[in-house]
Amino acid sequence: MSAGVAPLLEVEALKVHYVVRGEGWLIRERHVLRAVDDVSFHIDPGETLGLVGESGCGKSTTGRSILHLERPTSGSVRFQGTLLNNLSEEELRPLRRRMQIVFQDPFASLDPRMTIGQIIAEPLSVHHLYEGKARKDRIAELLTMVELSPDFIQRYPHEFSGGQRQRIGIARALAVEPSFIVLDEPVSALDVSIQAQILALLSGLQTRLNLSYLFIAHDLAVVGQMSDRVAVMYLGKIVEIAERDTLYQRPHHPYTQALFSAVPVPDPKLAQQRKRMVLPGEVPSPIRPPSGCRFHPRCPLAQQVCRTDEPALRVVGPNHRVACHFAEESAKRFEPTFA
Ligand SMILES: Nc1ncnc2c1ncn2[C@@H]1O[C@H](COP(=O)(O)OP(=O)(O)O)[C@@H](O)[C@H]1O
Ligand code: SF4
Ligand SMILES: [Mg+2]
Repeated sequence: MSAGVAPLLEVEALKVHYVVRGEGWLIRERHVLRAVDDVSFHIDPGETLGLVGESGCGKSTTGRSILHLERPTSGSVRFQGTLLNNLSEEELRPLRRRMQIVFQDPFASLDPRMTIGQIIAEPLSVHHLYEGKARKDRIAELLTMVELSPDFIQRYPHEFSGGQRQRIGIARALAVEPSFIVLDEPVSALDVSIQAQILALLSGLQTRLNLSYLFIAHDLAVVGQMSDRVAVMYLGKIVEIAERDTLYQRPHHPYTQALFSAVPVPDPKLAQQRKRMVLPGEVPSPIRPPSGCRFHPRCPLAQQVCRTDEPALRVVGPNHRVACHFAEESAKRFEPTFA
């Protein structure tokens, strides 16, 4: 946390557990699925925190639960100093205006039966903002902000490309003047050339409107372009969190290092030099997470202690915390090849 700046968002010991049914003949059984399991972080005004990890690690659930789109099982979320946990839906409404979300899939997230104007107007209606003629002007202004023509107001989502639809999703999120936006894999479904344009748009809007972002992605390359700090998530937990440059130059956690080796390197010579650290197996089920360190079945450095003792998220350097018993040893063996 930078000195003197009160964080915009403070998340403390957040847990989201789901009760799920067993499969097949175990359908009568109930299990607890630990989608988010004791996660803490903060986001400063105007800052982007990247949240990265493989699919199923709990990134989207973290995003939704901090916005209270679903209630956390336990833990606290403070937004601009206000504790959200005990607020009723009614009491949450004015705060919802300040916290918005953009989803991954620009095809599924826009109602095909509504015009672009109606889609962007929806949050304005909910919050009773910009009534009558002012609303039309506001929609035109928002379309311009996301670099689309205001003439699109009467058109339908199917008339637009993926990139354009994502711009519409961003305009909808911006309509109510938020100060914080969860960007849940906003470019994962788009072609690489389009990704760059959307990321540039999001960066420009951030500066102009002093927005804070939680930027979720499964790819460290994309997160690195957007984030001031980065949190790496594995099976419901943050395993490493640091300033972007620190994390990219000296990742300590073996899982973070493995994510780096999955990032494609454009230079073929460099790609050949790089020792790929292949992650064996899949992400285990969050219903029965491995004992001790949850990463131990896949970790090349795992020792006996890793199977029994869960590593705490501990400080290894300025603004840098890692949950690994052997973080220092692990950091030493990492060969940076990712520019
Ligand atoms: N509503 C739900 N009910 C039961 N399990 C869920 C629900 N939402 C997500 N999960 C499970 O929680 C885990 C984390 O999911 P998610 O947050 O979507 O991960 P990510 O966004 O990192 O891919 C997954 O195992 C997923 O199947
Ligand atoms: S605690 Fe052990 S198993 Fe977990 S990441 Fe560190 S070395 Fe690997
Ligand atoms: Mg997700």
